[in-house]
Amino acid sequence: MAYLNDNYLKLKAGYLFPEIGRRVKAFCEANPEAARGLIRCGIGDVTEPLPAAVITAMHRAVDEMSARDTFKGYGPEQGYEWLRAAVAKNDFRDRGCDVADDEIFVSDGSKCDTGNILDILGRNNKIAISDPVYPVYVDTNVMAGHTGEANEAGAYARLLYLPCRPAHGFIPEPPKRHVDVIYLCSPNNPTGAAATRGQLESWVAYALEHKAILLFDAAYEAYITDPELPHSIFEIPGARECAIEFRSCSKNGGFTGVRCAFTVVPKSLRAATRTGELHPVHPLWLRRMTTKFNGVSYIVQRGAEALYSPEGNAQVRALIEHYLGNAAVLRAGVKKAGLKVFGGVNAPYLWVRAPKGVTSWQAFDTILDEVRVVVTPGSGFGSKGEGYFRVSAFNSRANAEEVARRLQELKWRSASAGA
Ligand code: MLT
Repeated sequence: MAYLNDNYLKLKAGYLFPEIGRRVKAFCEANPEAARGLIRCGIGDVTEPLPAAVITAMHRAVDEMSARDTFKGYGPEQGYEWLRAAVAKNDFRDRGCDVADDEIFVSDGSKCDTGNILDILGRNNKIAISDPVYPVYVDTNVMAGHTGEANEAGAYARLLYLPCRPAHGFIPEPPKRHVDVIYLCSPNNPTGAAATRGQLESWVAYALEHKAILLFDAAYEAYITDPELPHSIFEIPGARECAIEFRSCSKNGGFTGVRCAFTVVPKSLRAATRTGELHPVHPLWLRRMTTKFNGVSYIVQRGAEALYSPEGNAQVRALIEHYLGNAAVLRAGVKKAGLKVFGGVNAPYLWVRAPKGVTSWQAFDTILDEVRVVVTPGSGFGSKGEGYFRVSAFNSRANAEEVARRLQELKWRSASAGA
């Protein structure tokens, strides 16, 4: 008899976004007329075309693939040297962070990397996650057997949930007790909050004291507008000894459908073996990547490299300004609708408080039924997200303006209905 990984049976419901997709599909089938005007502000998926510099670079790479002399087969699993060098220089060393080219590992996504990193971490780590949180951090720990069962509120035994409260800008504080691995995301998905230097310093101090590892997801760093806010955990002294950083080309370069990301694993980061000796983490991640991954395609890596060219850089800035412009339009609309809004200034997400007594899924259903807009229910990100919903600013300007207008029409008549 073959056995399953029973841990999968502990997972609650479906992954959040497929579940939203299912509900939206049901709505569209039941209301084909209304479905025509549907606007999606749910999943944070980019809408604008790839930067022209990327297209040119990828076309050139396709041409190279068409000739025997320039054709490429397998590339280095951890990424071509020229891309790793461009990333390490532009994203880190030029910003004062000490990151070497060979500490960059190119991959097909931060979602994959934040899950895959568990391959090289031990089974008995005490894991802390924020609440609300990007669901991938939780579900991948469940799949790996790092949790017990979920309770009625959906919280898993053996995970430590760190509440993100408005009073602390929705950034969790280091716990009073010991944990070994902490997931941090800044700018944050879903709350749109960005951690201050002081907040990150307190996390690095905690991690160094507890010999813990910070898994720092900076997929949205390009959206930081406040010059005081750090873009990388490696801006904080000591982080090279306690952090791994995840970055993505999805939300800055519009690569959600192209797939390219990277993870920074400093060679000075060490973790304990079962017998307590400290061992570098970098060789394990290299071994994992070279064994389980065959690298991102040459064409895609050439496209990613073009993001760092002067034209590519300017085109990325224009994309970010477009989405942040949408966020400003949406923030104004939400405020005019009389709702309290957070985020959307250093991040492409708005975190909106539903009217008193309205749950997240009720807000989702009301907004879908009444004004044909798809948002993401905050409770899908954790119990502390209950009573909130997330609005994604990834859209056309016309759609953002229309959503801002429609939200003001909401009467919240069906506040007592819904799931
Ligand atoms: C989201 O909507 O939270 C993101 O699109 C998910 C992701 O980037 O994987």
